[in-house]
Amino acid sequence: MDVSKAKCNGNGNGNTNGVVANNGHAHGNDNTNGVATTDTGVVANNGHVNGNGIHRLPFHDDVVVNLDRGDPKMYYPFWRNIDERCVVTIKASELMSYFADVSPGGVFYQMPEFATVVKKLHCVVGNAAVEGRYIIAGTGSSQLFTVALRALAATVRHQANFPLPVVCAEPFYSCYQEALEEDKSEIYRWRGDAKEFKEEGPYVEVVTSPNNPDGTIRKPVVNREGGMVIADLAYYWPQYTPITASLNYDVMLFTLSKCTGHAGSRVGWAIVKDREVAANMIKQMSLMTIGSCREGQLRATKMLDFVATTYQQSFATRGRPFRVSHPSEEGLFEFGQRVLAERWAKLRSAVKHCGVFKLLEFPVMYCNFMCEHIQPNPAYAWMECITGEDAAGLLEGLNIKTRNGPRFGASPRYTRVSMLESDETFDLFIERLLTL
Ligand SMILES: Cc1ncc(COP(=O)(O)O)c(C=O)c1O
Repeated sequence: MDVSKAKCNGNGNGNTNGVVANNGHAHGNDNTNGVATTDTGVVANNGHVNGNGIHRLPFHDDVVVNLDRGDPKMYYPFWRNIDERCVVTIKASELMSYFADVSPGGVFYQMPEFATVVKKLHCVVGNAAVEGRYIIAGTGSSQLFTVALRALAATVRHQANFPLPVVCAEPFYSCYQEALEEDKSEIYRWRGDAKEFKEEGPYVEVVTSPNNPDGTIRKPVVNREGGMVIADLAYYWPQYTPITASLNYDVMLFTLSKCTGHAGSRVGWAIVKDREVAANMIKQMSLMTIGSCREGQLRATKMLDFVATTYQQSFATRGRPFRVSHPSEEGLFEFGQRVLAERWAKLRSAVKHCGVFKLLEFPVMYCNFMCEHIQPNPAYAWMECITGEDAAGLLEGLNIKTRNGPRFGASPRYTRVSMLESDETFDLFIERLLTL
């Protein structure tokens, strides 16, 4: 099967047919826009509502500050300013068929313009090789992770080493182990820390870079014959880390959730080098969910095209590095970078003040996209309790919910804190930390 193989020309004319922009306002469709309602990660039990419908939270100890999940609510303020320019309207009679592309080589459920825009954005950012690659949409990159494993396992079906071992260097993103153990698949099996893996024969190593939970830049560690890599690059975007190279792994996973913050659309994409693997992934997508949601693809196309086009225009008019004199001039990546940098500065200062935790330091690197040296600002803080105590338990005592080290294959003296929550949730977290 010759699946979608659009050429990357980076000329900014990604066809977004089917994305209908209008000037209408999104009335009352989602009143959880990043303010401190329960949807922001804060269980507000004593808040009041001000004239704008925004819940203001008092600093009460019984309010749970939930930083367990990487829910990207920090992006709400950016997109609220763009609202009128990124409206997607879908008529009752549109997008009804299972099929979005029946052309020879098309991915049957995928709008061709989605792949075009994905390639356009990667060309603009320079974070992943897309020339001659296959783009495959999924219901978040979570689905594509399983789909990729099934497809890779199929390529070594005839070999003895079954189920196919799946490893990832510790600390690893908790959902890999949890999903695979729940899955109980006969064709692949979770085998834990890649640094401990000694077997011969085919295996899959998941390389998450920057890593969730600790933000470090990673490369494969096993490097043995028969190895296959799934590179989970959810956070390889300029707001989180300097873009140092256009990555070129056989299977690379990205997600709208962490690129633009539209996690609710449940859109991810895989960039796949090998034709057979790509064809098998499409088969798996067909068997699992008969493709992925077309409304999601449409919204993703709109958002990604907005980001890519904004930067193409900005390169032409402002040049690089970007120098913005006011936040209103920021593009998505400068916005994300500024917010995260401010949060990291606050967190480092609070951690220093309370003297109970330790944070990793991240080296400044040259970013090919920003065209200057920048500091990484990971999406999570991997907090280590210096006394060796249970870090999550300590924060739990302050009514701060985080994800404990053991879920990432690490010691309980570590815990993962999301840096992506709403401003109010994050500020409440810092206030609490300062009381330690
Ligand atoms: C490293 C990593 N991969 C994948 C995902 C899943 O993303 P999605 O929302 O696309 O399923 C996440 C979500 O937090 C993640 O941190």
